[in-house]
Amino acid sequence: MAMAWQHSTSVYQIYPRSFYDSNGDGIGDIQGIIQKLDYIQSLGFETIWISPFYCSPQEDFGYDISDYCNIAPEYGTMQDVEQLINEVHLRKMKIVLDMVMNHTSDKHHWFLESKNSKNNPKADWYIWRDKPNNWKSIIGPKAWHYCEERQQYYYASFLPFQPDLNYRNPEVKQAMFDVCRFWLQKGADGFRLDIFNCIIKDKDFRDNPFSLLHAFPTEDYPGGNFQIRKYSLNQDENFALAQELRQVIDEFSPPRILIGEVFGKHELKKKYLGNNDGLHLIFLFEMLFYKFKANFFRKQIISFNEHYAAPLMPTMVFCNHDYYRSIRRVKNNIEKAKVLAFLQLTLRGVPTVYNGEEIGMQNGKISIKNGKDALAKVYSWVPQFIANVLPVAINRDNCRTPMQWNNEKNAGFSSADKTWLPVNEHIGDRHVAAQENDEHSLMAVFKSLLHLRREMPALHSGDIDIIKTNHQHILGFSRTFENEKLVLLVNFSDAPISNSINVPVKAFIYSLKQKKNFDGKLDAYDAVILKI
Ligand code: GLC
Repeated sequence: MAMAWQHSTSVYQIYPRSFYDSNGDGIGDIQGIIQKLDYIQSLGFETIWISPFYCSPQEDFGYDISDYCNIAPEYGTMQDVEQLINEVHLRKMKIVLDMVMNHTSDKHHWFLESKNSKNNPKADWYIWRDKPNNWKSIIGPKAWHYCEERQQYYYASFLPFQPDLNYRNPEVKQAMFDVCRFWLQKGADGFRLDIFNCIIKDKDFRDNPFSLLHAFPTEDYPGGNFQIRKYSLNQDENFALAQELRQVIDEFSPPRILIGEVFGKHELKKKYLGNNDGLHLIFLFEMLFYKFKANFFRKQIISFNEHYAAPLMPTMVFCNHDYYRSIRRVKNNIEKAKVLAFLQLTLRGVPTVYNGEEIGMQNGKISIKNGKDALAKVYSWVPQFIANVLPVAINRDNCRTPMQWNNEKNAGFSSADKTWLPVNEHIGDRHVAAQENDEHSLMAVFKSLLHLRREMPALHSGDIDIIKTNHQHILGFSRTFENEKLVLLVNFSDAPISNSINVPVKAFIYSLKQKKNFDGKLDAYDAVILKI
């Protein structure tokens, strides 16, 4: 039997502000997404995940929510969202919403009330202290901010205008669970949970340990700035909350899904999955920092197999709205990008593909000083030449530039004279219209492989094992599901390499370079799927 949809699906992430502007105000919107659903369906995706579209002062472009049950006017209305959900379901696709539970905007009426006094009904809905402890935010700088009105400090895991809710207060928990129910009743198929590992903090507010070794943030130790976030991240109560939330979504049928954004080592991340009673999936960020080498991916396959063997399932994240475009690491080489797409769609794991990746969009060239991103404002003191060589983006505007639909005005994104972020220049054929009917395009790779994934259970539900190859630049792996066994070979080198396999090939399924059979040799940057 094939797996539950939560584990066999493929996800397309939409950043609504930059996807498609239907009303010419320079900002993407819900009707814009509706108009492009056929496009997403034609690519072969089964699920869409949409970054937040709720009411928000947009200081962090929707990740600062001021009303969870209403829609930001620039994106549309509740009716538009209902129509969107309906249109998605008519296409037999799923829709996952972004749920920012950890914090609200400081303009949310809960916070406005909470900050007003020490004894109002919402006084304890956020985390208030007379004296801050030493905790730092997960973006580096301080996490406690003084509030004149209340004459106390409030805690914010991310930016100062995003105060953290206090989940030790049962009212807060219930209020947020009700927000989730509200959207589940409207038909949302699940949630992507924003910075879920910050959600509950040590009840005694013990100081975090200082560490000379943790000057810079890493995947395992977010935030850096000489501190291990021992008491402000990943508390045992977080794992319990994941289970409680699971019970909320399990009140609904058909089954709904929870995908967590959590940072840390695999052992820790897995605690959020529980024993099939927590989150369904967690984002794995290793691939964001890939090396274009067979050995890098070999190691990841082994590590993911070790940690996420069935019934667990890894995720394949090569980019999202917080990181650089994936093509940056291969210096904009489209042939290499095709190899990456091949890996993202054929390795074991749920692919989550950020809009624009399918056409090989490059990063924008917006300087830190000109950044609209609030993070760019925090880090405006970093010299641009240093920012340019950092592995993570300080100005996230650059991966959020408008989607490129054609080579007309604003790359077809909007008819406005000014778009909210500038459209990339010199887009060449990195747009939908150019690639849609070109069988040699990057988009064609996404399309073919997404369709193959649907046809061949081994690709979405099969086990994965490394196959020994005879060359360091060739990655070999198998995908096996019941009687279906596939062999996949990937050539990471710019030269053809011979690598025969010692079992008879029953069928030739796919080649990036449009080969029609396998004679034991792989072209430069070719990747093949063989049935044995
Ligand atoms: C997550 C989001 C990011 C946002 C932050 C604060 O990391 O992906 O875009 O700024 O949380 O909500």
